Amino acid sequence: MYRRREVLRAGAVLGLAAAAPWLHAATPGGLLTRKIPATGEALPVIGAGTSGSFEVEPGSADYQQLKAVLKAFFDGGGKVIDTSPNYGGADSILGQLLEEGGWHRQCFIATKIAANSRSEAEAQWAGSLKSLRTDKVELLQIHNLRDWQTQLPYARELKQQGKTRYVGITHYLNSGHEEVASIVRSQPLDFIQINYSVNAPHAARELLPLCQDKGVAVLVNRAFDDGRLFGRVKDQPLPAWAAEAGIGSWAQLFLKFAISHPAVTTVIPATGRPDRQLDQLKAGHEPLLSQAQQQALIQQFA
Ligand SMILES: NC(=O)c1ccc[n+]([C@@H]2O[C@H](COP(=O)([O-])OP(=O)(O)OC[C@H]3O[C@@H](n4cnc5c(N)ncnc54)[C@H](OP(=O)(O)O)[C@@H]3O)[C@@H](O)[C@H]2O)c1
Repeated sequence: MYRRREVLRAGAVLGLAAAAPWLHAATPGGLLTRKIPATGEALPVIGAGTSGSFEVEPGSADYQQLKAVLKAFFDGGGKVIDTSPNYGGADSILGQLLEEGGWHRQCFIATKIAANSRSEAEAQWAGSLKSLRTDKVELLQIHNLRDWQTQLPYARELKQQGKTRYVGITHYLNSGHEEVASIVRSQPLDFIQINYSVNAPHAARELLPLCQDKGVAVLVNRAFDDGRLFGRVKDQPLPAWAAEAGIGSWAQLFLKFAISHPAVTTVIPATGRPDRQLDQLKAGHEPLLSQAQQQALIQQFA
């Protein structure tokens, strides 16, 4: 009998990954996965964001660099990429890169509706599909809860039509957590997306346990506090225990903090640099951080 690893290795050699959908669940880089509670579908714990980092000119040197970022991401077993129609053209750059690299089938595309009315949302959604060069996405989220009473039912309609497989809501500030929690309590949702980091661990108080309780998957944004955390640790050594936790950089440590919470499905850090992408993927392996290590970080960055 073949062991799963051997089958996967053989599949990769034979190029079967493109033909056999079940192989897509495997992560070539051996990334840890977590299940989406709604369906049991496994997602790699390290994903990617596109805000800022993907807002580049098509065909520019930055664009070429992003191609290398995505190659590193998919070769390393990444799958989930988050974008939005209001990220300064990042979704269009993502769509173009996915098409050029032939990566659409490997990508779990998460995008958003950020609109103030049904008609605005309909036009925006049509534009999103065009930008992303696809006819469906995996996850459609209501951006920052904007007009969610109108937009969430619309996203559910699109789910019914097979245009998205999952629906969710997003926010990026601690001040949004209470409203996000109240929607998690009152509405059927597949996902939320929220900020959670060593210097903003607020979501762990109520929201993350609530999502575990309700069976809602969680994407984590701003694990680097939009890059600001790197300024805080400039020239500082990693904690003494980092090596034994398999951590070789501050980026890995910040990401490992996020995925060490059991409610977190995937963290979606943004970068436009291939070297940083490779580094980020290294965080998606065991061991995860102990409670004591997580607490030490929260204290250090309070
Ligand atoms: N409301 C919402 O729905 C919402 C809000 C916020 C974010 N998001 C999503 O979550 C994603 C992640 O959040 P974010 O982009 O705000 O913040 P983030 O992932 O915390 O930080 C990204 C920033 O960190 C920098 N960075 C990455 N690795 C680095 C390293 N090793 N050293 C120094 N700097 C480094 C990146 O710059 P380089 O590109 O130069 O590496 C980028 O500017 C977004 O891209 C977006 O997809 C959603």
